[in-house]
Amino acid sequence: MKKDKELTFIRDKDISLDSAVTFKNVSFFYEKERPCLKNISFDIKRGEFISIIGHNGSGKSTLSKLIDGILAQNEGDIYIFGVKMQDNNAIQLRKDIALVFQNPDSQFIGATCRDDIAFGLENMQVKQEDMEEIIDDCLRKVGMEEYKDAEPANLSGGQKQRIAIASALARKPKILILDEASAMLDPKGKKEIEDIIFERKKEDKDLTIINITHEIDETINSDRVLVLSKGNLVMSDTPNKVFSNDEFLTSIHLSLPFDHLLVKELNKLGYEIEYDDHEGLIEKICR
Ligand SMILES: Nc1ncnc2c1ncn2[C@@H]1O[C@H](COP(=O)(O)OP(=O)(O)OP(=O)(O)O)[C@@H](O)[C@H]1O
Ligand SMILES: [Mg+2]
Repeated sequence: MKKDKELTFIRDKDISLDSAVTFKNVSFFYEKERPCLKNISFDIKRGEFISIIGHNGSGKSTLSKLIDGILAQNEGDIYIFGVKMQDNNAIQLRKDIALVFQNPDSQFIGATCRDDIAFGLENMQVKQEDMEEIIDDCLRKVGMEEYKDAEPANLSGGQKQRIAIASALARKPKILILDEASAMLDPKGKKEIEDIIFERKKEDKDLTIINITHEIDETINSDRVLVLSKGNLVMSDTPNKVFSNDEFLTSIHLSLPFDHLLVKELNKLGYEIEYDDHEGLIEKICR
């Protein structure tokens, strides 16, 4: 029995040492006759910033729940940092993963923002004397220092999501998954969440970020974009490569980011402009 327990946390030698999340031929269904994710394989590296896009019902949230071990796949294998996820180690592996959902109201436990973050820390058995410093640090990271004693219910949607992200960060996750975390926010709120994500990525090179989003413009600065369609992984490439396939993306009901739409229109008008990045595009247009 002891031996089984020990073996559970051994890295699989076939999985690369820098892998954070690996799917090998993973399939999942809620109802047998309707497969939800079909034979999905990918490898997300430690510190990578991944965007996942796909139309409604393509399986994005289900995928995030499989990574977080909330759901278990019907076929294939899932590895977290090279360790195969199994019934007896899923809880342990989940400790490195934090998931922020779309609806901010469904994620609060504490009566104040402080208590909400403290709850997660208590679960991790963080010492009382270390708690306030961690709470202050996480509130600072999301620009919510002034709201430590505020009741989450009285915050705006954007502020609630920032507290939800602070609670997630307090757990010191190695993998942060945001499942449409800014979907219910206005443009200003969306931009604030986007900035927080980019800031995290800049400050913590080891943090693996998986951002599930319908905001195509949010994805252009990620390292890689995974595209889901009807439960299939149909693309996994750099944003520039993915968004150069505009006809295919349109066929699966996805649009192009604004920058790429602009380049397409300029090309139609006879300007030979290639897209590298946002700043480069502005420079080329100004010339
Ligand atoms: N609890 C459930 N029971 C049965 N079917 C479900 C359940 N949750 C999701 N599904 C189905 O699984 C498929 C994928 O759903 P999922 O929520 O993963 O998609 P999504 O890409 O996150 O969609 P959205 O963009 O709308 O959030 C859909 O057909 C959905 O109806
Ligand atoms: Mg979803």
